[in-house]
Amino acid sequence: ASTLAQYAEAKGRYFGSATDNPELTDAPYVAILTGGEFDQLTPGNSMKWDTTEPTQGQFSYTKGDAVVTLAQQHNMSIRGHNLVWHNQLPGWVSSLPTGQVQAAMENHITNEATHYKGKVFAWDVVNEPFNDDGTYRTDVFYNAMGVGYIADALRTAHAADPGAKLYINDYNIEGSGAKADAMYSLVSSLKSQGVPIDGVGIQGHLATQYGFPGNMQQNLQRFADLGLDVAITELDVRMPLPETAAQDATQATYYTNVVKACLAVSRCVGITIWDYTDKYSWVPSTFPGQGAPLPWDANLAKKPLYDTIVAAL
Ligand code: XIL
Repeated sequence: ASTLAQYAEAKGRYFGSATDNPELTDAPYVAILTGGEFDQLTPGNSMKWDTTEPTQGQFSYTKGDAVVTLAQQHNMSIRGHNLVWHNQLPGWVSSLPTGQVQAAMENHITNEATHYKGKVFAWDVVNEPFNDDGTYRTDVFYNAMGVGYIADALRTAHAADPGAKLYINDYNIEGSGAKADAMYSLVSSLKSQGVPIDGVGIQGHLATQYGFPGNMQQNLQRFADLGLDVAITELDVRMPLPETAAQDATQATYYTNVVKACLAVSRCVGITIWDYTDKYSWVPSTFPGQGAPLPWDANLAKKPLYDTIVAAL
């Protein structure tokens, strides 16, 4: 084995990357993306609601289709991301009268999941339903339907694409804590009600200036013990700039810990990094003053972190 994907596959896992349409004009970038290091792609933005249904009832799948086509040409699987989320939501959804939100949500899910039926192996059906203290986000969906919007979204997605693995995906649930407990109680309840739920997506947006999440392996295992898959869906480890040797060492430990936690849990099905190169990371624009989160640098050269990940796999 000599690529991340091959090392992961030897352990029965996939190793994927997020990508986005503007980057696909960068030929050296695409050459690495499709050159065997990765066997799974997640569109970073192209399947979100603001892209796919910017106006009510008018669907656009051009961008998502471009990522799907690229993946198919290179035998990579696709995680669909995402169907219901409070962010990157077009204004028309937030402005709907409460009584129209459920039908709009169900119509969006049905249309998009039908379009990508057979093309994505998994969907992040609901993204980021929780606040950090474990309470539900009071977004337009929760305000209209209460917590039942989650079961409704999962049932609607299952009806449209019965073959896709359906996930709820969130951040700050890597280790034990109030938010992970809230996710555990939600998915326990969904399972006991027979709602179609197959997995929990653990985003994995970590930072060297914060401690590594506690009890990550045990936390993944408790989801697995409910009969669910888990996946590391958006891994990156940012640091305050400038990059230093000390922070690189912390970052290497964090990546190693995440990979080892996943490999230790048989139902942890794979790891996706949130793009592979610092050139296209979301970090510098979202967290000003922070960066260097990924195993390839901004010149598309492998960093020592690449070998760290290989060693952990
Ligand atoms: C990010 C994208 O990478 C950015 O390009 C975009 O501007 C904002 O969203 N959690 C998620 C992802 O589930 O969809 C987010 O992606 C990162 C945080």
